[in-house]
Amino acid sequence: MRIIIEKGSIKKLKSIVDELSPYKTVVITNTTLEKLWLDEILEQISTIPIVIPDGEKFKSLDTAQQIWKELIEIGFTRKSLIIGLGGGVITDLAAFVASTFMRGTYLGLIPTTLLAQVDAAIGGKTGVNFEGKNIIGTFYLPNFVLIDPETLKTLPEVEILNGFGEVVKYGILDLRVYKKLKSFREINDELIRECVNVKLRIVEEDLRESGKRRILNLGHTVGHAIERVSNYKVKHGFAVAIGLMVSALIAEKINGFDSGKVEELLDRFGLPKRYNFEPKELLKAMKIDKKAWYGRLVFILPEEIGKVAIREVDEKVVLAVLEAMRDDSRDN
Ligand SMILES: NC(=O)c1ccc[n+]([C@@H]2O[C@H](COP(=O)([O-])OP(=O)(O)OC[C@H]3O[C@@H](n4cnc5c(N)ncnc54)[C@H](O)[C@@H]3O)[C@@H](O)[C@H]2O)c1
Repeated sequence: MRIIIEKGSIKKLKSIVDELSPYKTVVITNTTLEKLWLDEILEQISTIPIVIPDGEKFKSLDTAQQIWKELIEIGFTRKSLIIGLGGGVITDLAAFVASTFMRGTYLGLIPTTLLAQVDAAIGGKTGVNFEGKNIIGTFYLPNFVLIDPETLKTLPEVEILNGFGEVVKYGILDLRVYKKLKSFREINDELIRECVNVKLRIVEEDLRESGKRRILNLGHTVGHAIERVSNYKVKHGFAVAIGLMVSALIAEKINGFDSGKVEELLDRFGLPKRYNFEPKELLKAMKIDKKAWYGRLVFILPEEIGKVAIREVDEKVVLAVLEAMRDDSRDN
């Protein structure tokens, strides 16, 4: 797998594709990216665009099925290349289609949101929504991931912030990222590279999430619960940000971690720390999360910046923190 992280690297697509020399290529993208970045690709390589509507609800088996049909009509083979151009919705879907069509075609990802560049397009998880989020999916590594920070120039501010939820998570998992964030000025190749490296190091040890990869779920126990309880109105990165604060506060109670370090980063990027949901409802949602361990409350807890532990936490401790955070939000 080749990962290119460089300003302007979208212009190098032709040479990367030429190295693979695929028999036919399609680009899966959406109606938003079609207007912004598709031409960059069409100017360089001969390819067939498959454009789907924009939105999480199109990350579905229905869409996958339509694309499979198109691929058959085009005469796609295992030696053909699927390029996914877009945010995490597109990279998850394109990767899912590539991994399932004829048991796997070539795959290249060009993530265009911060969240997809530092997270969704890295690590080989593919998926579509079915009865729930990401219920159907595979593990499948792309041949290449091309990350061009220039593509973020057209991304709305709220989506940049959304990506920062995950970036701050990497800052807690890794001291180098933390230091970069403390003196942050703007998103650049270097910051993205550091985040990608953290994820790659972890995923290399445990692709299928049987052990170490779980630490990437820092902030996600509560994050997923907030997404679910809000009926996915709260964006993933914002929900994770609140989840990071909850984990930091629980850690403070259990191992004396200084939660101020997390609070400071969240404040620096203008990310939320509090919420208005019923703590008991959140608790219920946490217990049915597909990543929960048989109904037990398992948290990734920071011990210090750069070091976390996976711990089962007593329900009373979780509730106490959730209640306190909620009360705070009422005061504000
Ligand atoms: N596979 C994984 O490991 C993994 C990890 C995290 C998230 N995900 C998945 O990622 C998805 C969320 O991804 P997302 O946050 O990128 O959302 P998204 O793909 O919906 O993108 C957000 C919005 O930004 C638009 N957009 C994308 N790039 C743009 C650009 N450069 N300029 C202007 N607009 C642009 C999109 O069209 C969309 O409207 C979820 O489905 C989630 O399950 C997967």
